[in-house]
Amino acid sequence: MCGIVGIVGREPVAERLVDALKRLEYRGYDSAGIAVIEADGALSRRRAPGKLENLRARLSQDPVDGVTGIAHTRWATHGVPSETNAHPHVAGDVAVVHNGIIENFAELRAELAADGVVFETETDTEIVARLLDKHRREGLAPRDAVLAMLQRVTGAFALVILFQDRPETLYVARYGPPLAVGYGSSEMYVGSDAIALAPFAQGISYLEDGDMAIVDRDGVEFCDFSGAPVARKRQPLQLSSMLIDKGNHRHFMEKEIFDQPEVISHTLGHYCDFANQRAQTDGDGVDFSKVSKLAIAACGTAYLSGLIGKYWIERFARLPVEIDVASEFRYREMPLSEDQLALFISQSGETADTLASLRYCKANGVKTGALVNVTGSTIAREADAVFPILAGPEISVASTKAFTCQLALMASLALRAGRERGTLSLEEEQTLVHQLSEVPRLMSRVLHAVQPQIERLARELSRFHHVLYLGRGTSYPLALEGALKLKEITYIHAEGYAAGELKHGPIALIDENMPVIVIAPHDRFFEKTVSNMQEVAARDGRIVFITDEAGAAASDLKTMETIVLPDMPEFIAPMVFALPIQLLAYHTAVFMGTDADQPRNLAKAVTVE
Ligand code: F6R
Repeated sequence: MCGIVGIVGREPVAERLVDALKRLEYRGYDSAGIAVIEADGALSRRRAPGKLENLRARLSQDPVDGVTGIAHTRWATHGVPSETNAHPHVAGDVAVVHNGIIENFAELRAELAADGVVFETETDTEIVARLLDKHRREGLAPRDAVLAMLQRVTGAFALVILFQDRPETLYVARYGPPLAVGYGSSEMYVGSDAIALAPFAQGISYLEDGDMAIVDRDGVEFCDFSGAPVARKRQPLQLSSMLIDKGNHRHFMEKEIFDQPEVISHTLGHYCDFANQRAQTDGDGVDFSKVSKLAIAACGTAYLSGLIGKYWIERFARLPVEIDVASEFRYREMPLSEDQLALFISQSGETADTLASLRYCKANGVKTGALVNVTGSTIAREADAVFPILAGPEISVASTKAFTCQLALMASLALRAGRERGTLSLEEEQTLVHQLSEVPRLMSRVLHAVQPQIERLARELSRFHHVLYLGRGTSYPLALEGALKLKEITYIHAEGYAAGELKHGPIALIDENMPVIVIAPHDRFFEKTVSNMQEVAARDGRIVFITDEAGAAASDLKTMETIVLPDMPEFIAPMVFALPIQLLAYHTAVFMGTDADQPRNLAKAVTVE
């Protein structure tokens, strides 16, 4: 959702705050702002609606000095995106930035309004600033004012607070959305995640839910919301800011698509022993032979990787898998048993519904495993076992490399589960692991081969308002992912369907204005999918056929475009076939001029429900 950063430094901080916000812009980007204590003691604020560049322009016209400051990039929850609603919010001598939702803000607002307090914004955050101002006026010191405020607010929050009369201190609190403290040399930092702090900090401590921290130039003191001290571990910060450059690419999304052959080789190398062609058992405490049933919960693209994982785990490990989007899973009150394992898939490791589903399972005594990309995240820290996705920082809002690395991890886990459950012979395991070892090479080949053709196709696709994606078997979740990717970054309406469902409704939509993208490697389902394509062709539908060499040779249907990938085993096809659908969405967005990295209304980490 929103991104937060703060610096207690020795040099002017405005530019560094904006640079740090730039790295956090992926979390939200409808307005941004900073507040600093200037050299003359004034609390100064600059805010701007829209992208961060607007704030930068505002600061170059009207600069601020000051060596302590806080900053925020916003993804609106309460109140329209505007300068007035942008953070920091100021009341009296206090400035506040916030990520999350204050659930009882309306009630608190009515209470303060009855005392004559006038509100300037429609946001839930302003109530935090107003409460702090009230407590200061009542004579409380900053620390006590923050603790008193924390007793009143409910909901989810990461807060960073700056008081005008404490120019060398930041007060921070976390309940829900992530927050970290960074350590420098005679400087300290706070931020929503390690990416924000990567270029400055040498070490990092994560706040736990219910933690407050008082950060000054020389260190940090942690306590709980009653003021009792707590200890939080300092960890080294290894993330290099080099990792989060766009390089020669126009967008992070393009870079991340092209990173895939390399990053997936890290994931596969971690979870497979290629020398002996075995799936690795990682000392993570999970024994699939003792598991009777698997539950998977995730959101969006991560959910779709789980859906493909279900096909593999059921097929190779003969283990029943129940999968649901986390926003339903958490409330479904499904029966759970202790011999069950629950897996949660999340790039960010902070998705509120996925985290709540994990907590629900833990509360019911079910062992939990987290497949996460951000290993310092809340989901990683709370799960019993952690399976790092190892895709590297993913900045583009639309998930690409995290998706294929999640697939690589699910595929390896399915083989390992098959071995542990005795459902895969040694020979089968070795064959399948060998197939996985081919994925990086095939990906690299596909990326370079299909790019020009997809650029051409993207121009054509941009003329349409609706697109249908079809697939069978593991190509069905891929069809859902293709539709999700296209709609989120181009705003073209797209739907994904299991090809077998075509006749049960969507066929009514087919005419010459409805391109149908069919994902059909030459696998067990190929003939059936071709029959569905025939039904589309008979109704003047325009077909984009994504297949392999054997598939292209086996079909003589007239298509709008046929994209031919190399032949490959059915098992690994989803990882490689993901690339043309990602590239198609990306190039269509570029051609249409939408913002591929930061599509409207979306945020990278959805830390509220
Ligand atoms: C789509 C996309 C989202 C995320 C979803 C879950 O491209 O990125 O659908 O997959 O919001 O996020 P994580 O994986 O961080 O839990």
